[in-house]
Amino acid sequence: MSKVAIVTGGARGIGRGCALELASRGYDVALVDLLEPEMQRTRGEIEAKGRKALTYKADVSVFARAHEVAEDVAKQWGRVDFLLNDAGASNAKGILEIEEEEFDRTIAVNLKSCFNYIHAIAPIMLKQESGGRIASMSSLNALSGGVTSAVSKHSYAAAKAGILGLTRALAKELGPRIMINAICPGVIETELGNSLTKSRGEEMKKGIMLNRLGSPADVAQLVAFLATSEPCFITGQHFVIDGFQWSC
Ligand SMILES: NC(=O)c1ccc[n+]([C@@H]2O[C@H](COP(=O)([O-])OP(=O)(O)OC[C@H]3O[C@@H](n4cnc5c(N)ncnc54)[C@H](O)[C@@H]3O)[C@@H](O)[C@H]2O)c1
Repeated sequence: MSKVAIVTGGARGIGRGCALELASRGYDVALVDLLEPEMQRTRGEIEAKGRKALTYKADVSVFARAHEVAEDVAKQWGRVDFLLNDAGASNAKGILEIEEEEFDRTIAVNLKSCFNYIHAIAPIMLKQESGGRIASMSSLNALSGGVTSAVSKHSYAAAKAGILGLTRALAKELGPRIMINAICPGVIETELGNSLTKSRGEEMKKGIMLNRLGSPADVAQLVAFLATSEPCFITGQHFVIDGFQWSC
């Protein structure tokens, strides 16, 4: 039987890299994103690997839409083995500039989105004999507070830190049938990461022990490991993947 993954934010960047790696490892993949052309490109790349793909144009901050997506995937494919909560967006504004709605939006897109999709998909996983696996994309910023850069101000760091608490608590609520972990990438070269690296990339590499920036493929290896349906003894944890960014 094919394994089924849902990847939010799968149109481009880290989410796309993870969706393609999962497809290479035998998963059919449902993509959830706002960017329709990019999502269709990823869909084509999944299908070129011989796997099936579904696409849902959806704002991940909308609770009801998460339930519609979950119901439709279950109707079409009968199961969900792995959920990757990848969709996220930064907010560059400092505490003296940010408006209330902008803070709320950052929390909704990065943190509430994870709640929305876990709330919708956990019941499907719990009905399956094999249970399920969930991973959510936090950030190194959750632990460090971020560098004084364009993409890592307080609202984003707070949302990403919230994912760590959500992960630990839900590992207790949903275990042992569902294993759930979080991932804390450092600087990864994507459209989002590039807003930071285009001005400071060379300088940043000097502060990374492995002397390079990360790629979506680097993160995808970790995600594929956390998605594995093999017996596993890891839940409620977060994994830093940053090449040892000691200077942040
Ligand atoms: N790139 C980095 O350096 C880095 C570092 C740490 C954490 N992260 C996290 O990794 C994840 C992916 O980042 P990325 O660098 O690939 O970014 P990206 O901007 O390249 O991709 C993010 C994807 O999420 C989608 N998305 C954003 N808001 C959405 C919404 N409301 N509804 C549906 N889809 C939405 C975008 O359309 C896009 O396809 C994010 O959660 C980000 O915070 C990235």
